[in-house]
Amino acid sequence: MQLCRTKAEMRALRARWPGPVVLVPTMGFLHAGHLSLMRMARERAGQGGQVVASIFVNPTQFGPGEDFASYPRDAERDLDLLRAEGVDAVFAPEPGEVYDPEAQTIVETTELAKTLIGKLRPGHFRGVATVVTKLFNIIRPDAAVFGEKDYQQLAVIRTMVRDLDMAVEILGAPIAREADGLAMSSRNVRLTAADRAAAPILSRALDEAETMAATGLTASRLRAHVRATLEAEPRAHVRSVDIRDAATLAPVSGGLARPAVILLAVSFGSVFLIDNRVIVPTPEEP
Ligand code: PAF
Repeated sequence: MQLCRTKAEMRALRARWPGPVVLVPTMGFLHAGHLSLMRMARERAGQGGQVVASIFVNPTQFGPGEDFASYPRDAERDLDLLRAEGVDAVFAPEPGEVYDPEAQTIVETTELAKTLIGKLRPGHFRGVATVVTKLFNIIRPDAAVFGEKDYQQLAVIRTMVRDLDMAVEILGAPIAREADGLAMSSRNVRLTAADRAAAPILSRALDEAETMAATGLTASRLRAHVRATLEAEPRAHVRSVDIRDAATLAPVSGGLARPAVILLAVSFGSVFLIDNRVIVPTPEEP
């Protein structure tokens, strides 16, 4: 496995690869969910292609007072896991290598960046879109894999790729969960023992919602039910519960006639967790 610390090293390595290149962008502190993305990347790349993982805790997607400094990091462990997974190369630059001090260009999906998590974390998706554009420009992948846990992030990236005619195929990978249902996240290690025990309330609320949606509840009643379930957990600070069109993220009202996504954002202490579930309504019997 090749390790590139600079853009020049990464570009030189990329230039030597004739076959498909598939990128998995990460912020490190890898878990089984990330490794499932590496496997999806390998499947897309084929044995003749190359899988590249990037590890970069991107400062521009964290707001003031967010957890940039305390975001978990363990570079050596990450490299061991990626080597064991058969990843071909890792791009792991320092922030000073990625951003020019004089930089003045940003990439922003103007509408999508302002809604949902964009409201809770202003500037977050601008930071994501800008760094992913830079990674695409440096690594020039044919395809890139992102987790569906970050549902809105995936929508932002697909929109950006469409709008800016980027020649990168975007693949979404299913959410990986712990045995008790908690969606895997690098942030989970920062939960206290009591918060870790309480956190599966997110997936339980989504399970319940999926069952209730099948009874034909309207979006607003379903949303109220999910919120009440989450609020019954005293350790959970509910930041947002939304039901949106699964394809466009437009607000949904009335009964669910098309696939919808339930999006949750909940804090436990200073740890911000998200989860989601796509609900596909069953067609009515003729
Ligand atoms: O999902 C993440 O880990 C990050 O937002 C990403 C896509 C690597 C950009 O920094």
